[in-house]
Amino acid sequence: MVCLGNICRSPLAEGILQDKAFKAGLSWSVESAGTNSYHTGEPPHPLSQKVAKLNGIDISQQRARRFKAEDFDMYDKIYALADDVMDEMKKIARNKFDTAKTDLLMNELHPGKDMDVPDPWYGPEPGYHEVYKMIDQVCGKIIEKYTVTNQRFANL
Ligand code: 4NP
Repeated sequence: MVCLGNICRSPLAEGILQDKAFKAGLSWSVESAGTNSYHTGEPPHPLSQKVAKLNGIDISQQRARRFKAEDFDMYDKIYALADDVMDEMKKIARNKFDTAKTDLLMNELHPGKDMDVPDPWYGPEPGYHEVYKMIDQVCGKIIEKYTVTNQRFANL
């Protein structure tokens, strides 16, 4: 899960998808990063932490880090939270196989629409709740996609 600062949106995305994967019995390792290093080493924004906690998810132990080319080797799927982030990730990609691992997160819910998760960084608390809701919905869809496939194979 990749955003710009790795303190507002992607820490929520990491926390939410990790929580849902765990609850669905999927042994996924979900992590997050940012395309800039302004906040490297910092915990998530207090409002991201607050909104996560209100929804039963603790993201306080996360620390911001910058996205790097080697991440393309470490992960099967890499989601950009917004289009500007996707542009940066494509610059960091070393070849078409790296790029093929990427997608805009919201395309899992609205295929082909190329929607951004808006950056709540400059705004007040309601923006963080809105972002939480969007990420929660799309992560629900991702889990559904993989668990339905698994169930189909389990029934064979
Ligand atoms: P995020 O929000 O990408 O959702 O973590 C931002 C946080 C900080 C900055 C930009 C976006 N910044 O430029 O410092």
